[in-house]
Amino acid sequence: MDFSKLKADFAQSFNRTDGALFFAPGRINLIGEHTDYNGGHVFPCSITLGTYAIAAKREDTTVRLISLNFEDLGIISFELADLEYRKEDSWTNYPKGMIKYLKEAGHEINQGMDILYWGNIPNGAGLSSSASIELLTGVILERLFGLELANMELILTGKRVENAFIGVNSGIMDQFAIGMGQKDMAILLDCNTLEYELVPVKLDGYTIVIMNTNKRRELADSKYNERRSQCEQALEELQKELSAKTLGELDLENFEKYQHLISNETLVRRARHAVSENERTILATKALKNGDLMTFGELINQSHISLRDDYHVTGVELDMLVETAWEQPGVLGARMTGAGFGGCAIAIVETARTDAFIEKVGLAYEDKIGYPAAFYIANISDGAKAIKEE
Ligand code: GLA
Repeated sequence: MDFSKLKADFAQSFNRTDGALFFAPGRINLIGEHTDYNGGHVFPCSITLGTYAIAAKREDTTVRLISLNFEDLGIISFELADLEYRKEDSWTNYPKGMIKYLKEAGHEINQGMDILYWGNIPNGAGLSSSASIELLTGVILERLFGLELANMELILTGKRVENAFIGVNSGIMDQFAIGMGQKDMAILLDCNTLEYELVPVKLDGYTIVIMNTNKRRELADSKYNERRSQCEQALEELQKELSAKTLGELDLENFEKYQHLISNETLVRRARHAVSENERTILATKALKNGDLMTFGELINQSHISLRDDYHVTGVELDMLVETAWEQPGVLGARMTGAGFGGCAIAIVETARTDAFIEKVGLAYEDKIGYPAAFYIANISDGAKAIKEE
């Protein structure tokens, strides 16, 4: 990666030529969707698409931020003494929230800073551009102020920004994947205990293709929070007879035995997804470890069907991409990834056939939906970090 343009833009924006480089990835989730806030397992990995930044401290207490992705907004600045959420501060609320909560936790951040951000993750595409900015800001603060920060503290602070500062009731998956990611590894995370295991993603002869519906998805105005409360209600009703603290503690057999306790069919479906998806995630991880790619792909397909029929978070655009992908030769599996309601899907495609795959699915999508999808090859990268320049 050539950083000369970023450096020139930093110099031009802030009238200075110092500044250190940082990177935080985006993420895809291989399987385990809408299970994190239900105490189940997820299986995400961090990708080479992500957010870069150049950052330097200032002598005063002003924070000045600019993003090349929102260039028309120009520099947005605020004071360290006033770290309140402000709608008009747009994307800078994510870094602002990180600064606020890390300061509140007692970390000494007592000087302002100039930071330029640029990301090649499409915004609102469900690849976690917001968690990427949060964790990126975390590693910047860690480095600029010499803070003693464990990865886990950054991850939990990022989640808190999302939940309490921005107001999205999301789980821990995105921040965890971006904070803990490692090249060529996926992370099996138990969201109940936060125990995790890195699993090599060995897809001999296959490639992960990301398929973007180009339908924007804003978590805050989507039905995300509604799905979460439906699961909570279903759990509460199950707890009349069961002692489980989360849906993630139930297996499908047990769930089916007690599902009559749940008051309506919609809630039964939501909870059934959370339970069955958790089982699929564990089975899929085992299959991948054993090199059983057929089973891995089949479980990925089942995941999409459950998200479509039981959890109801796919929609015509994602279904069109995934269902067309299923019909193509050399496809092991395909499913939506992330929150859903638009955003991205992934397909595991025989490497030699990816060009033909992209062309076929792209044409069919544009024909049916009326505007084009976008396709990227997913490479699995390291988590958030300072960049050492050679
Ligand atoms: C979003 C949230 C995650 C997770 C997924 C769905 O990405 O931020 O916490 O709930 O949706 O699996």
